Amino acid sequence: MIGPRRVEGYVIVSSDGMIADADGIMPAAIHNDADQKFFQDALDRTAVLVHGRHSHEGGPRAAQRKRLVLTRQTAAIAPDPAHPNSLLWNPAGATIEQAIAALGAPARAIAAIGGTEVFSMFLPVYDAFYLSRAAHAEIPGGRPVFTGVGPDLSPEDVLARHGLKAGPRRNLDAAAGITLAIWERSP
Ligand SMILES: NC(=O)c1ccc[n+]([C@@H]2O[C@H](COP(=O)([O-])OP(=O)(O)OC[C@H]3O[C@@H](n4cnc5c(N)ncnc54)[C@H](OP(=O)(O)O)[C@@H]3O)[C@@H](O)[C@H]2O)c1
Repeated sequence: MIGPRRVEGYVIVSSDGMIADADGIMPAAIHNDADQKFFQDALDRTAVLVHGRHSHEGGPRAAQRKRLVLTRQTAAIAPDPAHPNSLLWNPAGATIEQAIAALGAPARAIAAIGGTEVFSMFLPVYDAFYLSRAAHAEIPGGRPVFTGVGPDLSPEDVLARHGLKAGPRRNLDAAAGITLAIWERSP
């Protein structure tokens, strides 16, 4: 939680725990329509999206969503000239509470949607982490969902170390090997 707000994370990873290739491109192998529908519908229920400057959920409803875009190009909080519902935010200069107050977001959940540094930053405060997996995709040398994920450390290891527990894994698209597990913090 951050104040009264739930904190949620949403990601789809390859079988080796990657969110993008070495160049920071999310390959088609981890893009899935059923996962996208789940993700976009979930984001509609949250109040504020938080992501790094190279991430974005896309889709037709993106412009209506309130968001904080992390960047070190501003000292604290600054308007995002291209997007009226967004603010640029540097956590080194302002707290998330200050950034959300400046954004004027309603009192619902915060959704962290990437990339690596942003997913990692919220690990101590996630109430729920929605971990989709693309079992048939591998991205050798890619960018991990969390700092340190690799051959010796899975995303599940990291979530468990931060006090989250997995619910049952369910199929989002069985034919494509896409599953979802919801990791939640015990009260
Ligand atoms: N598979 C998935 O579900 C998923 C999810 C999210 C993203 N992705 C993919 O992953 C790739 C991008 O991930 P990424 O990790 O390279 O990039 P990212 O986190 O989206 O963006 C990195 C940038 O965000 C800013 N930033 C990050 N942490 C910050 C901090 N603590 N303080 C201030 N600024 C911070 C910096 O911007 P400045 O350079 O402006 O300072 C940094 O260069 C894209 O291909 C995206 O599509 C995939």
